[in-house]
Order: sequence, then C-alpha cells, then structure tokens
Amino acid sequence: MADCGKTPIVQRSATADNQSRSTAMKQTDEHSSLKEHRAPLEEDQAPLRELDEWDDFVATRYRQGKSEEEFRNYKADANPTVTEFYRQNHKYQTLDFVLEKKAEYCGLKRGQKSIWEMADYLNTLVDDSDPDTDVTQIEHLLQTAEAIRKEGHPRWFILAGFLHDLGKVLCLYGEPQWAVVGDTFPVGCAYSEQVVFPEFFATNPDGSKSEYQTPYGIYEPNCGLDSVHLSFGHDEYIFRVTQKYLPEQAQYMLRYHSFYAAHRHGAYRHLMNEHDEAMFEWVRKFNPYDLYSKGRERPNTKEILPYYRELVSEFFPDKIDW
Ligand SMILES: [Fe+2]
Ligand SMILES: [Fe+2]
Repeated sequence: MADCGKTPIVQRSATADNQSRSTAMKQTDEHSSLKEHRAPLEEDQAPLRELDEWDDFVATRYRQGKSEEEFRNYKADANPTVTEFYRQNHKYQTLDFVLEKKAEYCGLKRGQKSIWEMADYLNTLVDDSDPDTDVTQIEHLLQTAEAIRKEGHPRWFILAGFLHDLGKVLCLYGEPQWAVVGDTFPVGCAYSEQVVFPEFFATNPDGSKSEYQTPYGIYEPNCGLDSVHLSFGHDEYIFRVTQKYLPEQAQYMLRYHSFYAAHRHGAYRHLMNEHDEAMFEWVRKFNPYDLYSKGRERPNTKEILPYYRELVSEFFPDKIDW
C-alpha cells in the first residue's frame, strides 16, 4: 500500500462501516437491503476491478481530439469488465429500484460527519493491487479541483470539483457497483439511443412496461429535470448531501455530471425546461475538469490541504447529515 495518498486526513477510529469495507466491492448475503434487487448469486456484482475503471472508460470515450468515427466505435474501448458492468447497470436500474434507493439515502439518515471524515472514508476505497499508478479517490478530487482553481474559476466551482465524487461512499455502504457509478439516464420513460450500450436495456424489466416506454413516460413535456428520476448513483447522493450549502450551478454540476446522454449528446431535452438548459452550461463547463485532470501530476496534498480546509469551512458547518 502506498503511503503517499493514503495518510488519513483526519484521525478516526474504525467503525462498523469500515469493517464492511472488505466486502463492499463484492456483494455478499449480508447486504439485506439488496435482497429484492440483487442479481442471482452466480452473477459477480463487482465486475470492475475498481470503480475508477468506469471513470477511465468514460475519459477514453471522450478523449480530446478523438474523431467522430473513433467516438462512435466506443465499444472497442470497453474491456469485458466494463461491458459486464454496463450490462448489470442497465438491467437493474428500474424506476422501483431508484425510488427505493432515494427513500433509503436521500433522507440523509446515516448520521453526521464532516466533509473531511467522508473524504478520508472514501479514500479507503482504493485498489491495493496497483498502488503506483492509481491515484486515490481524494487525489482525483483534488486534481479536479486544482485544475479548476488554476483557471481562475470562483471558489464554489473549485469546491464542486473537490466534492463531486464523494458520493462514491455508497460503495462502502455496501451498494453494488452498478448502483454507484455509470452514466446516468432517466427511468420511467423511453431510453435514448444516446445512452452507452442501449442494447442492454432490453433486459430491464421496465422495458416491458408500456407506460414507461413512451418518450415522456410518467413525466410531462419539459417538466424539468428536478421532477425526473435518473438512475441512482453517486451523483444524486452527493447532490442531496450538499444541496443546501452550495449555489445552484454547483448543485447541477454534482447532480448531473454523469448524465452524458444529456450534457454531451443533447438527449432528453423534451424533459428539460429552460432553466435546466441554462444550468447545463455549467455542467458542460465542469465536465472537462472531471475527465481530463487525471493524467496530471499527483497533487501535493500536504501543501494544498490548508486551502481546501478553508474553502470547505467557508461553505459547510463542521458536521453535516449523510
Ligand atoms: Fe463522478
Ligand atoms: Fe470524477
């Protein structure tokens, strides 16, 4: 294990949650909350070696300078584990599943913790097999935030970069990979061909419910994304946790940063309202920092941490609800 990225940011003792970490990436019978939606036992619910494998795939998919033809061939960039991950994600993210997870997590009833305690907790989610090449979760957050800071953006924008993937702690809560990461998409209405691997929706039980398969499904035309349920994952969770402390532009960045079909490909505009359209400018502004800051040098955590401590305390109280 590499020392550099894993030094705890705050000292904390082991918790029950931490003890479950070793099983967080591989689902077991212990996670009773998943009973109804859990895939058959023979299915490996953690096909990705690490969550970053999905992020890396997305970054490759939208590699800068990629031609349109190369882009359309994105499946060639997906290794079998990423493909299997999307197969599960598209199969199990039903409207019922999303509503159940929102009821479970969006009331923020898991107790109070500081942003730093959560960042430190998230940092325990790292691939131990390859410590030299992988940046830790907190390093990805700092790299994203630093890239934003270098270009002179407002403090709330930098903070959004630092926070954007903290919702991945869902994986440490015991959620399977397909409920934590992956491109997000609306449920309860027809799937867009602009979502990656659209053919995998054929196995989603919602696909055979005709009321969910019209363009608007359960929604009204241009009802606004706040009324639309997206597939559940780290975006929605961190949005809910931080919502009341951040300006709206930052809320949109956090909530929709994995909604590539919309912010990259212009899909689902029939569900968006004018306010969403205006706010998506900020989602698009944010996206390159998430995608392209990873290759840069590792941030000097010790040196920049005081800046981020001050930034976090400017917007957040010591402890917030999770
Ligand atoms: Fe993310
Ligand atoms: Fe990210």
